[in-house]
Amino acid sequence: MSTKIASARISEKSSQLLQDLNNSLPFDKVLYKEDIEGSRAHAYMLCEQGIISKEDYEQIESGLYEILGEIESGTFLLDGDDEDIHMAIEGRLTEKVGDAGKRLHTARSRNDQVALDFRLYVQNNTKAIAALLAENIETFVKVAEENTETMLPGMTHLQHAQPINFAYHILAYASMFKRDYERFMASYERNNYSPIGCAALAGTPHAIDRQITSDKLGFNAPTLNCLDTVSDRDFALEILFNISTMMMHISRLSEELILWSASEFKWVTLSDRHATGSSIMPQKKNPDIPELLRGKTGRVNGNLIALLTVMKGLPLAYNKDMQEDKEGVFDSVRTALLSLQVLNEMVADMTVNKEQMEAACMIGHLCATDLADYLVKESGLPFRDAYHITGNVVNLAEEKGVDISELSLNDLQSIDSRIGEGVVALLDNRASMNARLSEGGTATVRTLEQVESLKLWLEKQK
Ligand code: ARG
Repeated sequence: MSTKIASARISEKSSQLLQDLNNSLPFDKVLYKEDIEGSRAHAYMLCEQGIISKEDYEQIESGLYEILGEIESGTFLLDGDDEDIHMAIEGRLTEKVGDAGKRLHTARSRNDQVALDFRLYVQNNTKAIAALLAENIETFVKVAEENTETMLPGMTHLQHAQPINFAYHILAYASMFKRDYERFMASYERNNYSPIGCAALAGTPHAIDRQITSDKLGFNAPTLNCLDTVSDRDFALEILFNISTMMMHISRLSEELILWSASEFKWVTLSDRHATGSSIMPQKKNPDIPELLRGKTGRVNGNLIALLTVMKGLPLAYNKDMQEDKEGVFDSVRTALLSLQVLNEMVADMTVNKEQMEAACMIGHLCATDLADYLVKESGLPFRDAYHITGNVVNLAEEKGVDISELSLNDLQSIDSRIGEGVVALLDNRASMNARLSEGGTATVRTLEQVESLKLWLEKQK
């Protein structure tokens, strides 16, 4: 359905190719709600300020309300040759209410209109993403509470390093998500200023009141400088960056889940609801979900770089290049919302194979550092000497084909007589884990503190 508003300056009908390149309606129709909300606030302000009459305002208001219904019921399809969502809705309004509709664009330009619609979209979705992040953190905390005693080898360089508990590992991701949440909300606050009323670039001679529209739309205040406002897409770049960073975290967790569900590990089992089969190998169960989450990180990074590149050389103020801001943001937002929901379900449903994790702790002499620390504490040896003695003990364990924790006191003393009886209790994986009592460490009591701290934080966000 076309509601096309004719241009004042262009007399010939646009070439079809120009329309294909120029029209953003096929994708910016996503913004119909924001556009209607923005127009209602603008019309309200125009009426309050005596710029349009009460009758015109009432017609605009009821017309916009009807249009919202038409779009949502599918009777106004937004598939015409209108240039964009702003023209389509204004055109339809004018079809419905005539001159009142034509008055709506007083003291407004599509430049501040699109800046408003897009910002409202970004702000709303920033909150939606943050809410899903909080849900995921809650799930991590639940999994953590069940696993504060579940030991697994903590790694560096993907090599067994020191024993940790699984709660501690999953809470590392909770910490990342908490930072992500805070990053999204900081962007929300920074960008919560109203662009409407900036008009094309320089403000307007009409006696508008930007505070009225700002209040009505839930912003903190109007933006400071109109030239900046219609040129600014930092808010879009911020949500793209925030999504990229968050997806990078999701990708790292996905990578671990893929590894952990491989036969070599078997530390977790993804539920059948969240795994797929192979078309040829009947025995297979594939971790497609974490693979896709890992893969989708590439596209959101692409969207960020694309918009940074679009913006980098633009003179002030609005340039049509900026119409390229939307599709990448829509795509990243869609990807983020879906990814967070899937991740939450998958983590909540997965089985943690505690025995396999603990068994893996017997590979790699995880408590070797404890022997070195013991020698430093008990014999006053410099750490570097203790480190070398421990290296020799590890070599002996390797020769015997056992873990360092399985060596007898005699074996240990054959390497260095300063190793006393007291070390036996320390050379034990659980003791080693629980010895890491420093703040933020992996000892079960410290992990429990982290659980409590996150629960408190979650409570505060509600
Ligand atoms: N469809 C345009 C966009 O998305 C709206 C703004 C157009 N403004 C203009 N002066 N041509 O950026």
